[in-house]
Amino acid sequence: KQKILIAGGGSTYTPGIVAMLADNIDRFPIEEIKLYDDLAERQEPIGAACEILLREKNSDIKFSYTTDPEEAFTNIDFCMAHIRVGLYAMREKDEKIPLKYGVVGQETCGPGGIAYGMRSIPGVLEILDYMEKYSPNAWMLNYSNPAAIVAEATRRLRPNSKIINICDMPIAIENIFADILGLESRKELTVRYYGLNHFGWWTSVTDKSGHDLLPQLQRFVAKDGYAFETEDFQHKHPSWKATFKKAKDIYALDPTTLPNTYLKYYLYPDYEVANSNPDFTRANEVMETREKEVFEIAHKIIDNGTAEGTSFHAGAHATFIIDLACAIAFNTKERMLLIVPNNGAIDNFDSEAMVEIPCLVGNDGPEPLSIGSIPTFQKGLMEQQVAVEKLVVEAYIEESYQKLWQAITLSKTVPSASVAKTILDDLIEANKTFWPQL
Ligand code: G6P
Repeated sequence: KQKILIAGGGSTYTPGIVAMLADNIDRFPIEEIKLYDDLAERQEPIGAACEILLREKNSDIKFSYTTDPEEAFTNIDFCMAHIRVGLYAMREKDEKIPLKYGVVGQETCGPGGIAYGMRSIPGVLEILDYMEKYSPNAWMLNYSNPAAIVAEATRRLRPNSKIINICDMPIAIENIFADILGLESRKELTVRYYGLNHFGWWTSVTDKSGHDLLPQLQRFVAKDGYAFETEDFQHKHPSWKATFKKAKDIYALDPTTLPNTYLKYYLYPDYEVANSNPDFTRANEVMETREKEVFEIAHKIIDNGTAEGTSFHAGAHATFIIDLACAIAFNTKERMLLIVPNNGAIDNFDSEAMVEIPCLVGNDGPEPLSIGSIPTFQKGLMEQQVAVEKLVVEAYIEESYQKLWQAITLSKTVPSASVAKTILDDLIEANKTFWPQL
């Protein structure tokens, strides 16, 4: 039986994950779940509600929550990490500062993602170090954003750590593939995919007998993008629906593949800015919906002393984190898309880049599959973007204003070095309690 720590205990995603772990106990037996957060006031209601929820699921899982790192990180097998340094108040700034200057305002792409990366690096390293100190054999399954920059930072600064970086976006899109194809589950699909995090393409989608399903998907995407009615609560929001629709135009640029939705920020930044409200961004939408709803449900459960009549959502795609833990714990060699050092998997691309590619996962971690050579269009885009991600990490390590300015200038979302500098200066001001002194 496994002992799990969820880092980011006060996150609105935590109750859904706890509920999902309890519901999957047959395939992933659990002895203990602990929550850890450095913000007691956020974690308290979530933890208290999860306790009631677990009790009512008749589970014998031992449960606790704490802000004490030693208590949290001692005697665990896995740390599932989804932290947000600076919370939604800072996400709002990441989005609104670039938008003020007519540049894409997004939490993981462009200057906003870079700002968030500079905050996340020390946060993720801190919990990784706690894990290594108190449970040196444990694995960290990390889905803290911005995953690309965080992954590059851990490659550079903790190259031998047992951390696996994974993103839910390809999984959410593969769920849509399954819906479009009328299949029960994305697990009926075998895919080939390559790219960087939030920056990749599917080159093959088949069923288990090797039957090519890509053409059928491409016919759909050419007309409607990924606009398929989804059950996923997160992606029901209008802003996500617009994103899925826009996949049609990303696809048009290379109709031999299928794209990750996040490419829209790099390929259609003008459209994105024109369709953004600089006074009300996704952070505002989330604060008014998910943030409110989850804490309301938690308080209701606590007040009523029962979780009956309430339900926490775990996006169906959240099960990937259990798949990953199972693959490691039980050596299943499941094939999953992970963010790993390239090391020649894409043979005409920087071997020291963190890339998102299929891997077989077993008890000693991911074994990347070979991709071969990639075309000039993708290679060019990826080289530019990976340079941005590397420069951010170098800027963090060297506390370099110059390198962060270069990183923002190089982002495909930014029109010039002067705009980059203006945005950077505002971001420095907004992040002064989080970033190193540049
Ligand atoms: C997707 C991405 C995540 C990102 C999230 C943001 O799931 O893969 O990396 O954090 O969307 O969603 P939100 O609903 O907070 O805008």
